[in-house]
Amino acid sequence: MKIPFINHNHSDESIHISHDHIPDHIAIIMDGNGRWAQKRGMPRVVGHKEGISTVVKIVNAAVKCKIKVLTLYTFSTENWKRPKPEVDTILKLPKQFLQIYLPELMANNVRIKTIGDTSHLPPHTREAVQYAVERTRDNNGLQLNFALNYGGRQEILNAMKEVFADITDAKLSIDDVDEDAFSSYLYTAGLPDPDLLIRTGGEKRLSNYLPWQLAYTEFWFTDVLWPDFSEKEFIQALEEYRLRKRRYGGL
Ligand code: IPE
Ligand code: IPE
Ligand code: MG
Repeated sequence: MKIPFINHNHSDESIHISHDHIPDHIAIIMDGNGRWAQKRGMPRVVGHKEGISTVVKIVNAAVKCKIKVLTLYTFSTENWKRPKPEVDTILKLPKQFLQIYLPELMANNVRIKTIGDTSHLPPHTREAVQYAVERTRDNNGLQLNFALNYGGRQEILNAMKEVFADITDAKLSIDDVDEDAFSSYLYTAGLPDPDLLIRTGGEKRLSNYLPWQLAYTEFWFTDVLWPDFSEKEFIQALEEYRLRKRRYGGL
């Protein structure tokens, strides 16, 4: 059985990866931007800007590895607690990212979506992302989800309210509310649960990311800060994932 590896002596087309046990869906908590900048004596926002180039590298690696879905934690419902200038900078990044990289994403057949409550984002963020969603809607390669103003508990509460409303309107019977039916009320409706969660930046927590969907996901943590994260660590995560035995409570 072939083991995934990168050959650094050749062009970036040279990822050789076994298609056995490749995760369909990878979720990433892109953490450590602020510390990356602070370590260099620079303002935290410099780290966020630097993180953009990691995003495109990892998206391209996911395309090459034929991952079906990649879900990136971009801004959490808790991140509003940060100083306003930092929040403003972070929320300008999607537009800056798409202005540079949308043509490359189109060429790579990537379909962009969002998860989270985008209605409360500044119009410039919402419109830039909405444009990219529309432009890429007919692509059928990698689905790239940006979790923007995403909070897992908020997602579950919203879903619960919608389920309740549909029961009240007799569109749904309470006996039909099983795991699959409930999942269809989440932002991730129709997607498989993540097989692999990657968190950079050293913290070992979920930070309110996909609590329902990650119930049986394999976790992979690294101390590498997001701006330093590269295809090399991404492939390492895939290699380790391949060796995991997923039992789902069975034997
Ligand atoms: C992650 O990097 C990016 C966002 C939360 C938007 P951080 O900004 O959390 O960086 P650290 O964890 O403070 O280093
Ligand atoms: C999680 O990182 C959110 C994103 C990466 C967008 P945080 O830096 O906000 O998480 P905590 O505060 O360390 O839990
Ligand atoms: Mg952080």
